[in-house]
Amino acid sequence: MIRLVRRHGAKRLIGLLSSLALLVGAVPAVLVAAAAPATALDNGLAPIPPMGWNDWNAFGCSVDEQLVEQTADAFVTSGLRDAGYKYLNMDDCWALPTRDADGNLVANPAKFPSGIAALADYVHARGLKLGIYEDSGIKTCSSSGGFPGSLGHEDQDAMLFTRWHIDYLKYDDCNVPADGQNSDASIARYHTMRDALAKATAATGQNIVFSICEKGDFGVPNSAWPSIGNLWRTTGDIHDNYSKLIGIFHQNVTLADLAGPNHWNDPDMLEIGNGGMTDVEYRTHFALWAEMAAPLIAGTDVRNMSSATRSMLTNRDVIAVDQDPLGAQGRPVASSDGHWVLSKPLANGDRAVTLFNETGAPATISTTAAQVGLPWAVDYQVRDLWAHDVTESAGTITVTLPAHASAIYRLTPLHRVAVTTPPHVDLGLDGLGDDIATGTPTTVTATVVNDGRLPLLGGHVKLQAPAGWTVQPSTLRIAVLAPGKTEKIPVKVIAPPPTRPLPEDTLSAALDYAAPFRSAVSTSFVQTLHRPTPVLAPYRTFAAVDNSTDPRFGQLGDAFAVIAAGSDVSGTNNQYGTIYQPEALSTSGSVTTQVTAQHVLNTGMKSGLMVRRDVTQANTSPGYVTLEVTPSNRVQMQWDTDGNGQLDASASVSLTGSTPIWLRLVRDGTTFTGSYSTDGNTWTTVSSATVSTATGAEDAGMFTASHNKYDDARADFGSFSVASS
Ligand code: GLA
Repeated sequence: MIRLVRRHGAKRLIGLLSSLALLVGAVPAVLVAAAAPATALDNGLAPIPPMGWNDWNAFGCSVDEQLVEQTADAFVTSGLRDAGYKYLNMDDCWALPTRDADGNLVANPAKFPSGIAALADYVHARGLKLGIYEDSGIKTCSSSGGFPGSLGHEDQDAMLFTRWHIDYLKYDDCNVPADGQNSDASIARYHTMRDALAKATAATGQNIVFSICEKGDFGVPNSAWPSIGNLWRTTGDIHDNYSKLIGIFHQNVTLADLAGPNHWNDPDMLEIGNGGMTDVEYRTHFALWAEMAAPLIAGTDVRNMSSATRSMLTNRDVIAVDQDPLGAQGRPVASSDGHWVLSKPLANGDRAVTLFNETGAPATISTTAAQVGLPWAVDYQVRDLWAHDVTESAGTITVTLPAHASAIYRLTPLHRVAVTTPPHVDLGLDGLGDDIATGTPTTVTATVVNDGRLPLLGGHVKLQAPAGWTVQPSTLRIAVLAPGKTEKIPVKVIAPPPTRPLPEDTLSAALDYAAPFRSAVSTSFVQTLHRPTPVLAPYRTFAAVDNSTDPRFGQLGDAFAVIAAGSDVSGTNNQYGTIYQPEALSTSGSVTTQVTAQHVLNTGMKSGLMVRRDVTQANTSPGYVTLEVTPSNRVQMQWDTDGNGQLDASASVSLTGSTPIWLRLVRDGTTFTGSYSTDGNTWTTVSSATVSTATGAEDAGMFTASHNKYDDARADFGSFSVASS
């Protein structure tokens, strides 16, 4: 039985919410209050946002029984289960392409030899729950399967899921009839499955969380979702890159009115640990999702996660913000030029406050207790949810954040001054930028701000820079800094010339200090400089990649770096970044380079030489030949036999290592011969091919493709040369 609870009489016009993003700069604190939607599905199954794991982000279509079982074990041993992660959700591609004679879905026996019911037992025995994926259309979303959707089989599938003891259903919206997505007909299809689940639950006693995966194609979720599902997707699919993360955040952050206990906005699963973002960006991902009361569905290979990933995902202080029983989604209380302050009311009267620097340059962001919606108090306790330390503030919170970084705090009003707690202090370095001069001093200012009621005592600032840099002085002392005061200390920094293209230089400052009656805490600031090393003529650069990614190119003498995403360079896929010389390879000659390093995201990455009539016509240009190395220890030559701009023939050689490696393409009219060398002297032929559409001079360059449409990866090259004979 489904019960619908009417919370407020008036229906809200959800479409108006999208305009909130434009107004947040002026959002008054009074708006920071939870409001429930008109009606909400009250099956009681998601009083707090669901936490768990889903295979899709890390494994795509490769889900199987072993993966889910091993992940269940890893949940137990890694502490994920004890931190609150509960659901193990199988995504698309678990089924056979056809139903059985009775119309039942069948789990692919090659992937699930023991069957789903046995898998559910395995998962349940470890105190966890099992989720499954289906679709409201004729087929699921995966392009590699043609797996059956539930349309017309809703009751039957819901019964099957309950008989398998499934606890969670993610229900997608692909391949629906021509009436389209996010239409009344689409809503009706989700209604049908909601009711089917309720009937199946009534018949079997098995409860199923209903996760709507309709991607808001009209820009905002439908106002019907809270009455139909426990959670619903608010955006298109997440990908493991920062610009996609930000796009999703911008959309989801406007939708706080829709969310509450048993009905949550779902900005999609987590990408933490998948390698396409920095740890700073992943911490921002986790903090923003917690602040927005989003479902926390880990999307990485938790069997092999790094300790940094594990400690992020199991941060109980941040998880407690997400899982707070009040169930309010945090709202922006200030936002200008990508500097955000978000506030989330918590059940005990505290506020979870996230300050977020969306921009590419460091920024000092501050807020006040009044702005985040807290009442006046003598003092405030400030718990830093990443550092896990506690400071006190008179009411202002100042924090200097590197690019893309955030700070998340829990603020508690206090009735008396916290005399044994150190004051909240900010440390920043002003005047440090990617454009820093080399070889001459730049004056940088170390700025320390005391937000507390108490003085800062015995402060030591230590500055660190990479080898070759000068920082003077590198230790600073601040004996006392009175409450509310700011101290600015000049520091001389001399940057050495870059030693490689696209260098990353990380400078840091750390401050130890104390309160009058208490031992020290510390705060720090880290800034990574990305100094440009421009590519010079006669070289040019070009990228044919997804526009959510961030291709970059660098040159330093005869060393080059290409950072680019790209699903592949093969067949119909022509996604790459290249540094090239236009029309450099005449009809008779050769092109040579050394691939000095590949910074591997996955073993399918390709880096090497590319020649074709016009490298900027990625999908059409003829005369196309590549010679590349992959981290899976292979040199491969590919060519286009029919001149349609697609590589349709290849030959490869296995190696015992990959980089560094020399690659050479020799051209004799329409004949190309690829070879490689590990020492630059002895060459081994990979293959020879005739490419009849290579008629005149061709562009010749170094290219890389990360083998992932949405994630960048870096390759380094050296000694590029083109010779004519
Ligand atoms: C859609 C969903 C994804 C994933 C895939 C599976 O794209 O939004 O989360 O479930 O389908 O095919």
